[in-house]
Amino acid sequence: MSNAVSGFSKLSKEEKINWIAQQYFSQPEVAVATLKQYWNSDTQLQQLHDEFIENTISNFYLPLGIAPNFLINDRYYSVPMVIEESSVVAAAAKSAKFWSTRGGFKATVINTEKIGQVHFLFSGEADKLQAFFRSVKPALLNATESITKNMQKRGGGIVSLTLRDKTADLPQYYQLHVTFETKDSMGANFINSCLEQLAKTLREEAQKYAEFSEAEKDITVVMSILSNFVPNCLVRAEVSCPVEDLAEKKIENPQLFAEKFIQAVRIAEIEPYRAVTHNKGIMNGVDAVVLATGNDFRAVEAGVHAYASKNGTYSSLSHAKIENGIFSFWMEIPLALGTVGGLTSLHPMVKMALEILGKPSAQELMQIVAVTGLAQNFAALRSLTTTGIQEGHMKMHLNNILNQYQATPEERKAITTHFQNHTVSHASVVELIENLRK
Ligand code: MEV
Repeated sequence: MSNAVSGFSKLSKEEKINWIAQQYFSQPEVAVATLKQYWNSDTQLQQLHDEFIENTISNFYLPLGIAPNFLINDRYYSVPMVIEESSVVAAAAKSAKFWSTRGGFKATVINTEKIGQVHFLFSGEADKLQAFFRSVKPALLNATESITKNMQKRGGGIVSLTLRDKTADLPQYYQLHVTFETKDSMGANFINSCLEQLAKTLREEAQKYAEFSEAEKDITVVMSILSNFVPNCLVRAEVSCPVEDLAEKKIENPQLFAEKFIQAVRIAEIEPYRAVTHNKGIMNGVDAVVLATGNDFRAVEAGVHAYASKNGTYSSLSHAKIENGIFSFWMEIPLALGTVGGLTSLHPMVKMALEILGKPSAQELMQIVAVTGLAQNFAALRSLTTTGIQEGHMKMHLNNILNQYQATPEERKAITTHFQNHTVSHASVVELIENLRK
């Protein structure tokens, strides 16, 4: 049982580590050494990472891998991916290579609207509030001028500001519903600053509004926050080729392959249990690039899954068809991403990832991320509908097991050779290691 602690954030990094080590480990000195082993010897670099969050005690490594040969809108990209799941980068690379000889991926940004809302309560007549809103709208927008000035120079800013009456769903509940263009930044700070200013001015103007009674003047702002549901910040990724061009070593009958593939997509379109896993496979690709480029993967996850339920039932994000002998596979997903601001210029690995991608604009990054998601989905469905997913997974997993057992180079060689024509399972690998060590 551990003890509660007060003032933890005020302790030095050493003190925090010591407290954790004493509380949770039977050998505190080993725990301290392990945590410190992951510190960077460059103290400046370490400090940079320490300061990203509160109460940092060490670094937590995730691999940064590259999936090369992504041909997107006729340009080749090497896509940086940060992910722990062993088969994801290999699958992306395989898919990229496959489609690079079949015309590559096409990607289009459909729109880039971001959304924020001021949620407030008003107890008076709705018509009066509407009249008040019309009269103060210019003042509300004026009040945000100092915040939006720089964004406006870059071609962004507040695009629309409307009052929404939500009282049919919740008594007294109204919103200022605001749409934004944030160009190359994800825009979370910008949007939230604008919203808080709008909320403040809304309250101040209400106090001064002569038509309001004393009770009506007292608008209650509940909260002001951006929405991670961005159904109008959409990107489309697609691939297509004549069905017969799908043929390759493991796809002997391309027509049958395409039909089964489409059936798998249809199942994900109508069956939520399958759709969640299907979309999870898409997010394997999406999140890995979102993370590598320093973007907010929780925001992306929340927004994408909400979008997957936009018709009232959770469904597949991707779709496929054969028409006039042409196989097409595509998806549209909402992605609020940035290539400036946030971690993008702070985290050295994020900077590198963006350089590897050729310093993309936010729109270009939306295309790359969506394509990686589609590629991942293609790889998963291709395996699932042909060899099954475990073949590739277990090959990669084999390496993890060998690492776990600290296999020597000789053991690795013997075991890898053995599993070239045997099915990998955790138990069978362990058994072979143990036999070799007898
Ligand atoms: C595993 O991380 C992802 C898959 O389950 C996706 C899918 O089933 O489509 C393979």
